[in-house]
Amino acid sequence: MSAPQQNGEAAQEAGAPWTATVLTLFPEVFPGPLGVSLAGKALQRDLWRLDARNIRDHALDKHRSVDDTPFGGGAGMVMRPDVVDRALADVADRPGPVVNLSPRGRPLDQAVVRDLASEPGITLLCGRYEGIDERVLEARGVQEVSVGDFVLSGGEVAALVVLDAVVRLLPGVMGNVESGGDESFERDLLEYPQYTRPADWNGREVPAVLQSGDHARIARWRREQAEEITRARRPDLWARYQAAQEVPAAPRRQRRSPRRGDETD
Ligand SMILES: C[S@@+](CC[C@H](N)C(=O)[O-])C[C@H]1O[C@@H](n2cnc3c(N)ncnc32)[C@H](O)[C@@H]1O
Repeated sequence: MSAPQQNGEAAQEAGAPWTATVLTLFPEVFPGPLGVSLAGKALQRDLWRLDARNIRDHALDKHRSVDDTPFGGGAGMVMRPDVVDRALADVADRPGPVVNLSPRGRPLDQAVVRDLASEPGITLLCGRYEGIDERVLEARGVQEVSVGDFVLSGGEVAALVVLDAVVRLLPGVMGNVESGGDESFERDLLEYPQYTRPADWNGREVPAVLQSGDHARIARWRREQAEEITRARRPDLWARYQAAQEVPAAPRRQRRSPRRGDETD
C-alpha cells in the first residue's frame, strides 16, 4: 500500500478519526452491516468515519450516465473515466490510499488489512458493470484489492468486507485488546476450536483440558489444535508457518586443537 502519511493510531491521537470514503453508484448500501455491533458502535463513538458518495453526482449529461460500451466490443458496459475522475477529484484531499475493488487486485488477507488499518484512512472505489476504464485508474495511481477468486456484481459488498476487517483493528474498536492476537491468520495459523457453556451439550463434552484451569496445558493444547487444523486445511499457511518456526542453525563452535588426553580414533 502507499506510504502512510500518518498511521491510524497517530491520526486518532491527533484528533482525526480513520475515515473511509466510498465512491459508489449505490451509497444507500452503506453503512449497512457496518452500522451494527462492533463497527456500528465505533462509528457512533466517532472512532472511525464513513462517507459514502454517489459517483452519479459527477455525471454531466441529462441522463446522468456513468457508463458506455467497451471499445473493441464485448458484453456489458464500462464506467467512464471522466465521470470517475471527477468523483475522485472531489475527495482528493482525503488521506490514505485510493483502492479500487476488483477481482484482479491484490488478494485481501490479514496482512493487507493490517496495512490499511495503519493508514490514516482510505478511499474505496466500487465498480459496477464490467468495471472501470483503465485510464483513470492509471492516471490517479489507484491500487486494486480483491476479496477473493470469484466475481461479485459490484464493489460495494467487497468494500463492506474490507471495511469490516479494517475497522475492528482500529485503536479502541475491539473491547478486549487481546481478542485480536489469537485469531486466525495471526502468525499464519488458523484458530483452535472454541467452546462455551454448557460443558455437556447433547452428549458432546468440552475437551477436559479446557476445564483443567492449567493455563500452560491449555495454551499447549490450543497451539497443537491450531497447528493440526492449519496443516489439514491450509497447506499454504502451514508452509509459511513452518518456515517461520525454523530455528536458525546455531553458530558452529570453533574447533580447538586436540590436547593431550583427548580421545582420538
Ligand atoms: C461484474 S464485476 C466486473 C468483473 C470484471 N469484468 C472482471 O472480469 O474482472 C463488477 C464489479 O464488482 C466488483 N468485484 C467483483 N468481484 C470482485 C472481487 N472478487 N473482489 C473485489 N471486487 C469485486 C468490482 O468492483 C467490479 O468492477
